[in-house]
Amino acid sequence: MARTSRGERSQAEGPDQVGPTGRPWPDLPRPAPRDPTHQEAVVLALCNQKGGVGKTTSTINLGACLVEAGRRVLLVDFDPQGSLSVGLGVNSHTREASVYDLLMGSGTLPQDAIVASSTVGLDILPANIDLSAAEVQLVSEVAREHTLTRVLAPLKTAYDVILIDCAPSLGLLTINALTAADGVIIPLECEFFALRGVAMLIDTIDKVHNRLNPKLELVGILGTMYDGRTLHNREVLERVVEAFGDVVFHTTIRRTVKFPETTVAGEPITSYASDSSGAQQYRMLAREVLQRCPAA
Ligand SMILES: Nc1ncnc2c1ncn2[C@@H]1O[C@H](COP(=O)(O)OP(=O)(O)OP(=O)(O)O)[C@@H](O)[C@H]1O
Ligand SMILES: [Mg+2]
Repeated sequence: MARTSRGERSQAEGPDQVGPTGRPWPDLPRPAPRDPTHQEAVVLALCNQKGGVGKTTSTINLGACLVEAGRRVLLVDFDPQGSLSVGLGVNSHTREASVYDLLMGSGTLPQDAIVASSTVGLDILPANIDLSAAEVQLVSEVAREHTLTRVLAPLKTAYDVILIDCAPSLGLLTINALTAADGVIIPLECEFFALRGVAMLIDTIDKVHNRLNPKLELVGILGTMYDGRTLHNREVLERVVEAFGDVVFHTTIRRTVKFPETTVAGEPITSYASDSSGAQQYRMLAREVLQRCPAA
């Protein structure tokens, strides 16, 4: 097994090497250019009801790397905390329209709410605290679980990939995200309690698949905040692979202060620190996602 002098598995990138998850590193070719006849966006929800596991960081940086791969990407902030909006420098409190207005069908047009980020090709549908009211207001709606699906339907031809950054809950907003999605990515922090709650999350995904959205599938589980120098992190990642097998992405995202710094800077790591290993890891993730979702 390829290990550095500190006992850490090296970030293997050749086909003969072992990757951080302990499996042989796969062949991840440079993504093909986008298909100009592309019809509809692939919608992916980044979901985990556990807080602070890297959902928002992964949505922003995976989105930016998909743009680098030539895709037109919309990021949907679906968390009343509005962290995705803040993380890309959008002040969603001073904006007149947000995803909440679109959900409530108040006559707001998507183009009034969508903002272009500083990364060309990366758009944002922002959120703010108003969204917390939607959770309550939608309860009395007919087909309440399909509200976000209706909001995204007219936007699908304008993008290749739509990423939804979910809130840390399994409430009605997250059910809406899972109902609107073609696939789910589960970011999982590489620490002891990481696996707690994943069974419940997968059970929820299965229920949405069976009752509301038969096309929904689990695209992958992403190890985040990984520190290969600690035995503990390596053991957790090994257990995750034991439990979930090949659904776990080969790419893991390492712990680095660069990510909190990008939030302060309000930009993705691909522009904040383009040559950093963090940027490189999200580029590899983008390749894996495109390999697993050929329609994107
Ligand atoms: N790989 C990483 N290394 C170091 N810090 C990270 C990493 N990924 C994310 N962080 C930091 O950890 C914190 C939580 O990350 P993030 O906001 O992406 O998680 P989240 O799952 O979206 O949280 P929430 O559940 O509150 O929405 C942030 O301060 C972020 O900058
Ligand atoms: Mg978040």
